[in-house]
Amino acid sequence: MEIKRENLIATLGGEEAVARMDSEAKADALEDFLSSELDKILLSKDPFPTVAEVEQKIPTRHYRMGVGNLFVAQAPGAKVKILPPMPDKPTLYDFFALRFAPANHVLQSAALAMKNGLPEEIILACLLHDTAQALMKADHGYWAAQMYTPYVPEKTAFAIKYHQALRFFADAAYGYEYPDLYRRLFGEDYVPLPHIRADYEMLRKHPWYDAPRLVTVNDYYSFDPNAKVSIDPFREIIARHFKQPKEGLGSDNSPVAHMWRTIARPDMAL
Ligand SMILES: [Fe+2]
Ligand SMILES: [Fe+2]
Repeated sequence: MEIKRENLIATLGGEEAVARMDSEAKADALEDFLSSELDKILLSKDPFPTVAEVEQKIPTRHYRMGVGNLFVAQAPGAKVKILPPMPDKPTLYDFFALRFAPANHVLQSAALAMKNGLPEEIILACLLHDTAQALMKADHGYWAAQMYTPYVPEKTAFAIKYHQALRFFADAAYGYEYPDLYRRLFGEDYVPLPHIRADYEMLRKHPWYDAPRLVTVNDYYSFDPNAKVSIDPFREIIARHFKQPKEGLGSDNSPVAHMWRTIARPDMAL
């Protein structure tokens, strides 16, 4: 993503205003600016790139597109921040506040699912569906489902896992269209990978097809950077359906504890 310094400064109220900001305020402002830059990509009127053009961009970056958001500062010249420490026995709330934040996209998706009167298992899936992007963006549905399987209902994990595959396939019956964002990210002539196509074929015949499909339908990108949603409306659903381990996420010796530890401490060199 190209960042023009003068655009960023202008957004923040000019050189003088920027000079008065402390470094934390500047970092927050940059994050806000980047999310509005994402909105610009989403709203861009440029022609869609081809797969070949997307690939040609790879060697122009110092990171790979699949890397988890916690592990790289994506803006040219930007640095990663010192992260606030996690409590000894972190809960899902601690991960939302300290590692997934601002998490607006998943909070807004869950709010939309709640407004649409969807079952609690699906609202929970919407709330969690992209949070593994902190760890890994490539194949994030599969990573997230693995991370959450020990703690959520089976249908919630199923919905999280397969929302990623169904995002690539339109379904007029649900009003779901192939997203322009994917034409921009993958190229307009992109063909989904074999495992995605195979999972789609499996899902079409599956009695739980609805579950991941409803996540894709409520997968919501707000274009209003001021629209902030809190996690509070979802506390009762989390209490009913999320099995918070008493030792804390990352310390419960589950098969996925290491994934939570890596998100908690992404600065560990080994
Ligand atoms: Fe996703
Ligand atoms: Fe999403």
